[in-house]
Formats: sequence, C-alpha cells, structure tokens
Amino acid sequence: MLADKTLFLRRLIRNPKQVSAIAPSSRYLGRAMARGLGPQTGRVVEFGPGTGSLTRAILAAGVAPSQLTLFELDPTFSASLTAAFPGLRVLNQPADRAHEHVAPGVGAVVSGLPLLSMPAPVSRAIVASAFRILAPGAPYIQFTYGPKPSVPPAVIEEFGLAVEQTAFVWANLPPARVHSFTRK
Ligand SMILES: C[S@@+](CC[C@H](N)C(=O)[O-])C[C@H]1O[C@@H](n2cnc3c(N)ncnc32)[C@H](O)[C@@H]1O
Repeated sequence: MLADKTLFLRRLIRNPKQVSAIAPSSRYLGRAMARGLGPQTGRVVEFGPGTGSLTRAILAAGVAPSQLTLFELDPTFSASLTAAFPGLRVLNQPADRAHEHVAPGVGAVVSGLPLLSMPAPVSRAIVASAFRILAPGAPYIQFTYGPKPSVPPAVIEEFGLAVEQTAFVWANLPPARVHSFTRK
C-alpha cells in the first residue's frame, strides 16, 4: 500500500537504525513468515510490526485478532497499527520487555526486528524475552536479509536453539531468508 510505504519511508528517515529496512516486507515474505500459523496456534506475539505487513499475513493465516499482541517501539507506527487493526493488542513497548506484558504459553513469536543492527546485549535480551513467553517447542520466527540467521551464534548456543531455514523469498526488497528457532 502506498500509504504504508510513505509512512515507512518517513520513519526510516527519522530513525534509520531502528527501522533498518528500505521498504515494508512484501506479501510473499509475510506469507512465508506466517506459514504454519492458524487458529490452532493459540496466542501469537509479533515483534517490530512497522506498518503491519507481517501482521496482515498472520491474520490472513487464521490467527484471530484477539490472539495477537504487537510490540512496536516507534510511537507513530504504534498509533497507525492501533487505527488499522481494531481488536489487536498494540503495545508501544520494546520487544525485550514482552515477558512483562504477556503470560507464558504463546504459540509463536514472529519477529521483523533488525536484530543484526542491534547491540549484542539488546538482541540477546529480545531472544531471552521471547523464550520466556513461548510454550515448550513453540517457534521464534525471524527473517534476515543476510546469508546467516540473525540470532547470533552465542545466543543460539546459550539458549540451546535448533535453527531451521523455512523459506527463501526472492520477491522481497531485498530478498530474505526466514528462520525458525526452537528450544532443543
Ligand atoms: C525492519 S522494520 C520491519 C517492519 C515490518 N515487520 C515489516 O516486515 O515490514 C523493523 C521494525 O522494528 C521496530 N523496532 C526496532 N527495535 C524494536 C524493539 N526493540 N522493540 C520493538 N520494535 C522495534 C522498528 O520501529 C520497525 O518498525
């Protein structure tokens, strides 16, 4: 949507490090991120929804709005998401505090966060928070534009994570890989 692209660009100019992408994710990347999710997943948490490209795909997969909680740091994106997606819980809070707002037992965390642009302690705290709320065996799903998973190897080892590449999406700017992380 043009309005989404314009808003995304404005927030990118205002805060390049935090947004850290040149455009919202494509619907193809959204579909790949939401693959396997549905009404059976239960509660789902999304980190860094921006203009809501992945949010739309999660809802289209069959997750009910009442089951979806968003953590978005940018107040303008948060206000726009609240207006665009009635019935969702939109929190203008950093993802590393998810465990303070969401009860354990979540069926999936879907993350559009730019983990590689963050200081190591911040990305570690985000993954830690995700696994505090995820149900045993439930996935942390993350995309990256680079060749390697964006969760650092030290964090993968610390939390005993199994990593699976579930998709490579050409039709995105830039092309992206999707990884699913689960506790072994
Ligand atoms: C690369 S954009 C992705 C936007 C959207 N998910 C997409 O795929 O089009 C990253 C988003 O993460 C948000 N963000 C960055 N750091 C965050 C944090 N610590 N907690 C929550 N959101 C954060 C940014 O404001 C931005 O909306």
